[in-house]
Amino acid sequence: MALEVIILAAGQGVRMHSELPKVLHVLGGKPLLTHVYDLASSLEPCCLSIVYGRGGEVLSETLPFPKACWVKQDPPLGTGHAVMQVADRISDEATVLVLYADVPLLQKSTIEQLLPCVQENTLGIVTVFLPEPYGYGRIIRDESNRIIRIVEEKDATAQERTIQECNTGILAAKGKGLKKWLKQIKKNNAQEEYYLTDIIALAVEDGFCVESVQPSECNEVMGVNQREQLAVLERAYQKHHAQHLMRKGVTLRDPDRFDLRGTIDILGKDIEIDINVLLEGAVSLGNRVKIGPYVSIKDSSLADDVEILSHCVIEKAIIGPGSRIGPFARIRPDTKLGECVHIGNFVEIKHSTVSHRSKINHLSYIGDATIGEGVNIGAGTITCNYDGVNKHPTSVEDGAFIGSNTQLVAPIRIGKNATIGAGSTITHDAPENTLTLSRVNQVTVTGWQRPRKKDE
Ligand code: UD1
Ligand code: CA
Repeated sequence: MALEVIILAAGQGVRMHSELPKVLHVLGGKPLLTHVYDLASSLEPCCLSIVYGRGGEVLSETLPFPKACWVKQDPPLGTGHAVMQVADRISDEATVLVLYADVPLLQKSTIEQLLPCVQENTLGIVTVFLPEPYGYGRIIRDESNRIIRIVEEKDATAQERTIQECNTGILAAKGKGLKKWLKQIKKNNAQEEYYLTDIIALAVEDGFCVESVQPSECNEVMGVNQREQLAVLERAYQKHHAQHLMRKGVTLRDPDRFDLRGTIDILGKDIEIDINVLLEGAVSLGNRVKIGPYVSIKDSSLADDVEILSHCVIEKAIIGPGSRIGPFARIRPDTKLGECVHIGNFVEIKHSTVSHRSKINHLSYIGDATIGEGVNIGAGTITCNYDGVNKHPTSVEDGAFIGSNTQLVAPIRIGKNATIGAGSTITHDAPENTLTLSRVNQVTVTGWQRPRKKDE
């Protein structure tokens, strides 16, 4: 079966009160239109058209969709008119699926039920029963319960408005019929628009049968018109992911306080995630990973038995097995930690490698550095890696011990098993197996008096 998908995205989204086109607003860290595009391309259509409206060029500029063919609709004269813009691309034999760009949570399983409804003389629509159907097109059925037409809220009689079965807008039909009916629709209705929904009555007139399928839950077919709806769908999306993770064996201390804005590529067993954790981009979590409260992790991989204590921010990092980070640590891009590395509070690490069993436990900045195995970096150590123009490397070899409050002025190399005395400013390479320090000699001034306040 050749499938052609049309995504309608030409609506102005006035109620968002935004400079940004509505379908570029994000849900789960991804633009609304991308959700729909991803669903559409997962169906492997032979043709995927996106109808955009005035000012919508920014969509194709911002969203690199390799399979999409962008078609402009200006002015927007209704959903039927939007589909007319791509009519000459539709082939007679194809099954054509119409999706809305502002309905981001639609599931593939619902479309997989809808597509088989499309036969030589049958088309399919997705309908939903809503206790408060206000605003939606209503599904009109005859005495034998067959769908005969759709009436829009604004054109409906009081009687018709009591109907709770609503049109979601998502439909599928053979190309030949669709093109024929598109030519026949008129805009003699309350909104003076070409309604796509009018093809239902035209199809029935031609002896077609209209099948309907329902989504597994309402949120799947809810559209985003205002920011409140975006927030509601965001929560629904997050809840769905939280449930999915729990079903796969992850402990979430509170599924309502967990957010995923991306994908979890590898998921180990017996993972524990505390409250208010945000995972972004592509994240991998090994077995028994523990993530404390208020942690944000982006595009990173955490190996088995990694423990992240509360309030850490981790981005583009690879964390080796058994390592422990935090609380209050910041791991910046291009950081690689080996096995059983300990990173403590108020430590920032950027573009650095820290090898097995090394410890940086308190108040340090490590940038552009290569730290060997079994190294101990004392509290308050800083790599002075930047001269205002260039970044310079620091190398600390295996077994070195850096005393507290040391500045390592890069480029610099600290040899194997070297010891650096506390409080040093190190500007030359330190040889291995020796003590290096830079410190002015301590003096004691005898007979010195503290200044006194007058009234004492
Ligand atoms: C439409 C349906 C209604 C259904 C509801 C579900 C029609 C006439 N009505 O109504 O039966 O219950 O969706 O949400 O189809 N769009 C364009 N070009 C246009 C107009 C709209 O591309 O000229 C796009 C919008 O960007 C949006 C979709 O089509 O993605 C739906 O448009 P919208 O204006 O929200 O339709 P409704 O009036 O809500
Ligand atoms: Ca709508």
